Amino acid sequence: MTFTIAIDGPAAAGKGTLSRRIAEVYGFHHLDTGLTYRATAKALVDGGLPLDDETLAEGVARNVELAGLDRSVLSAHAIGEAASKIAVMPLVRQALVEAQRAFSVREPGTVLDGRDIGTVVCPNAPVKLYVTASAEVRAHRRFDEIVGNGVPADFLEILADITKRDERDMGRADSPLRPAADAHLLDTSEMSIEAAFQAAKSIIDAALNK
Ligand code: DC
Repeated sequence: MTFTIAIDGPAAAGKGTLSRRIAEVYGFHHLDTGLTYRATAKALVDGGLPLDDETLAEGVARNVELAGLDRSVLSAHAIGEAASKIAVMPLVRQALVEAQRAFSVREPGTVLDGRDIGTVVCPNAPVKLYVTASAEVRAHRRFDEIVGNGVPADFLEILADITKRDERDMGRADSPLRPAADAHLLDTSEMSIEAAFQAAKSIIDAALNK
């Protein structure tokens, strides 16, 4: 039997860092499902294809290789924007959710992070975490990260982007971002990544020892 940990939350809440750390500590496979949406969007953009043709986008989504996903190649802001546009398409979601579910049953366990893992992709996951932080805190973290890489950034622009992304992710009709009824909420606004990890670890250990 495999053991699945579902981690959801808005953009820049820290769920990526947390998911990678959990996967490493427990020796589980990790899938950042945002990358599946980003890879689909990038393939469309690179091919000069439109972002509003659902059947076309579904075909591209069905060809996404989970093994080749790399955030450093897919991190561009424009790709994130394009991803959040094609993520509203039910056929694209269906195709990617199938691939994500196939991944989720790998032994000995998996960590999937995204927006709809606890609600749609793995509703029976024994551990569901909903990682969030205020929009201001998330914008500050993103700002510090960009400036830390030596790139100039505009805080208000980043905050506006995060707010817009939240509206799109939470407002869409198909699989909107929301905590599953049985998810544990982790608000990291005033929590270090270490504290968030320790909180997650207690929840996971309790479920593993059941
Ligand atoms: O987490 P991210 O920024 O890489 O995600 C990019 C977009 O993909 C995000 O705006 C919404 C979408 N997404 C989704 O709809 N469902 C997921 N499980 C993961 C990401």
